[in-house]
Amino acid sequence: MQLAVSGEASLLNSTTAAAAEKLFAAAASEGATMTLASGYRSFQTQTATYNGYVSTRGQASADTASARPGFSEHQTGWAFDIGDGGGACSFEPCFADQPAAVWAKANAYKHGFVVRYPWMLNEITGYYYEPWHLRFVGVEAATDMAKRGIGTLEEYFGLEAAPGYP
Ligand code: DAL
Ligand code: ZN
Repeated sequence: MQLAVSGEASLLNSTTAAAAEKLFAAAASEGATMTLASGYRSFQTQTATYNGYVSTRGQASADTASARPGFSEHQTGWAFDIGDGGGACSFEPCFADQPAAVWAKANAYKHGFVVRYPWMLNEITGYYYEPWHLRFVGVEAATDMAKRGIGTLEEYFGLEAAPGYP
């Protein structure tokens, strides 16, 4: 697996790491370079990440792009952000057009991943489109979602759309 980061951000739980190895290898074999751009985040790291968004964009906008500390999938080890190895459109909307993101959108489910915050479904997920953020849910569930055309875990599990913070 190609790492674009080191230390804490390169960590995942063992199930997700094993699936990611296969995902990245499959992408590479089909011509899409995929790198691990941001994996595990501690509470402290998520606090710094979220506060960075708040200081540049204000809290309301930050809440559409970054989870508050204690609420990020990155804190679980089940999710990570991908890059394409070249840094093009890194964490920007145009990343959706990079080979890694195009490949992930079409194929990630085969390896148990979903693009967790899809285009135009922000009112359901609570976050704007993140073509780079993948969440492991297992091959069975991810394939079922793909075959049924269900874009979000909220809809798949019958959860309330984008709940606010307690
Ligand atoms: N950017 C995603 C929503 C997170 O902070 O976990
Ligand atoms: Zn992410």
